[in-house]
Amino acid sequence: MPTSLALFLAVSFPAFTLSHPTVPSGQSVPLHHRSRPQRTPEEWGLWAKAHRERLTAKYGAGQPEKRSTGTNLITNQNSDASFFGSLAIGTPPVSYNVILDTGSADLWLADSNCVTNCDEVATFNPSQSSTFTTNNAAFNISYGSGKASGTIGADNIQMAGFSVSNQTLGLCDTVSDGLLTAPISGLLGLAFKTIASSGATPFWEALVSAGAWDSPVMGFQLTRFINDTTARSLEPGGSFSMGFVNTTLFTGDIEYLELATDPSYWILPLTAMTVQGNSVQVPTGVAAYSAIDTGTTLVGGPAEYMTSMYSQIPGAAPGTGNFDGYYTYPCDTTVNLTVSFGGKSWPISEADFRMTQLTQNQCIGAFFNLQTGRSAPDWIFGDTLLKNVYSVFRYDPPSVGFAQLSNVALAMNGVNAPVPSATVGSVATTVTATGRSGNSGVSMHMPGSSVVSMAVAWTVGLLAGLSILL
Ligand SMILES: *[C@@H]1O[C@H](CO)[C@@H](O)[C@H](O)[C@H]1NC(C)=O
Ligand SMILES: *[C@@H]1O[C@H](CO)[C@@H](O)[C@H](O)[C@H]1NC(C)=O
Ligand SMILES: *[C@@H]1O[C@H](CO)[C@@H](O)[C@H](O)[C@H]1NC(C)=O
Ligand SMILES: *[C@@H]1O[C@H](CO)[C@@H](O)[C@H](O)[C@H]1NC(C)=O
Ligand SMILES: *[C@@H]1O[C@H](CO)[C@@H](O)[C@H](O)[C@H]1NC(C)=O
Repeated sequence: MPTSLALFLAVSFPAFTLSHPTVPSGQSVPLHHRSRPQRTPEEWGLWAKAHRERLTAKYGAGQPEKRSTGTNLITNQNSDASFFGSLAIGTPPVSYNVILDTGSADLWLADSNCVTNCDEVATFNPSQSSTFTTNNAAFNISYGSGKASGTIGADNIQMAGFSVSNQTLGLCDTVSDGLLTAPISGLLGLAFKTIASSGATPFWEALVSAGAWDSPVMGFQLTRFINDTTARSLEPGGSFSMGFVNTTLFTGDIEYLELATDPSYWILPLTAMTVQGNSVQVPTGVAAYSAIDTGTTLVGGPAEYMTSMYSQIPGAAPGTGNFDGYYTYPCDTTVNLTVSFGGKSWPISEADFRMTQLTQNQCIGAFFNLQTGRSAPDWIFGDTLLKNVYSVFRYDPPSVGFAQLSNVALAMNGVNAPVPSATVGSVATTVTATGRSGNSGVSMHMPGSSVVSMAVAWTVGLLAGLSILL
């Protein structure tokens, strides 16, 4: 599969510290080695200057005016197929709907030159923004079943009361079939810079690394409409919070689990799975790596483990035709499935497991065979899981947290309420993005390496699949 995504390795700064001779307390120790000379004011001055420059390079030019928090209301599209929010671009700001995707790290939109596969999609016209800049570098992003390409630009981006000036974004004039379904205009990547195909610091990371958030977390509550036969194509989707977790939406503690890898995707190890009360074999080590991905509809994993999981459901069988790689099971079976990533076990509701009903007694499960690219984790846990928990993506220490949904959150499932209109919010906090290579020295381009971003691959594949079904 062609992919031009490049792997960027974050190389952290060597600690820049002053070596003071240590003075042990409570006892006197003879100094056998020469103590360091006192620094002269000139030396202090040089250190202070270098220290400030390094921190400025690391955290961007502007520190935020103040810390803040914000909420973006989400829309649920096509019975849980995708979840999108709203942001605004440029001067004057114009709002657009974007998929909120913790499985990738680029922001891109269809631009006004996109004519094919952009029907009814609101496109961004850079000539109408006075703050837009571009150096016309190429932008390409490839997913398992689609790609988008165009040029790289930068502009002011606002979302949930936050603003980042000079934020890099892709402007796509070429978008493959099925990638965007109106009213969605693009995608906002919420994973780490290390997997950004543009190489740019993602919007969320520009904010959190500059200290713009009260707390270094993003929270998701996603609604369920998959089992509501009266669901409209757009329904209220829940909420996305930046800088705080909304305690109204969960009960008990958030269980945080450290990421299994250096920050890239949000990766946890799958440690246990049960079906109908029976444990299912799960892999260990790298083979257990699982991306926690709001931009993916279902759950994908290696065929051998899927086969062993479905073997616990009497009557389950591999799907055929369009459902190759999926599994059927008798619709009169109530599937009770739990998953764990090292802590508590989280049940996935029978409603989410039942992706669709094919015939009177043939249902299709939401777990399917997936073979990922070499640099992507083997498992992708999408909204099938995330509708069952309050999920938190924490920057520092890098971790994913899960908590039990509150009754307030559960009461939003399947309710025909008005769909939220754009909720960009008035700007409380602004930071300046470090830009494409603004943090010179911290990124290393590794030509030849590639990652296959799973971002919308499965959303895209599944949107296509779902449109066959619905
Ligand atoms: C990348 O995007 C540019 C501009 O749209 C296009 O001309 C080029 O063919 C793309 N390259 C790849 C490898 O897809
Ligand atoms: C949808 O599924 C949930 C969870 O299993 C259940 O509580 C709810 O009653 C179901 N709604 C409908 C309309 O069947
Ligand atoms: C938290 O969620 C509740 C329920 O949706 C909502 O009413 C409230 O406004 C949210 N709080 C914030 C600060 O967004
Ligand atoms: C589902 O399975 C789990 C794990 O075996 C068990 O604790 C739970 O009680 C089961 N739930 C139902 C509704 O059967
Ligand atoms: C925006 O970022 C680019 C790339 O890092 C940089 O060259 C440019 O000077 C920045 N522009 C502003 C106005 O900060």
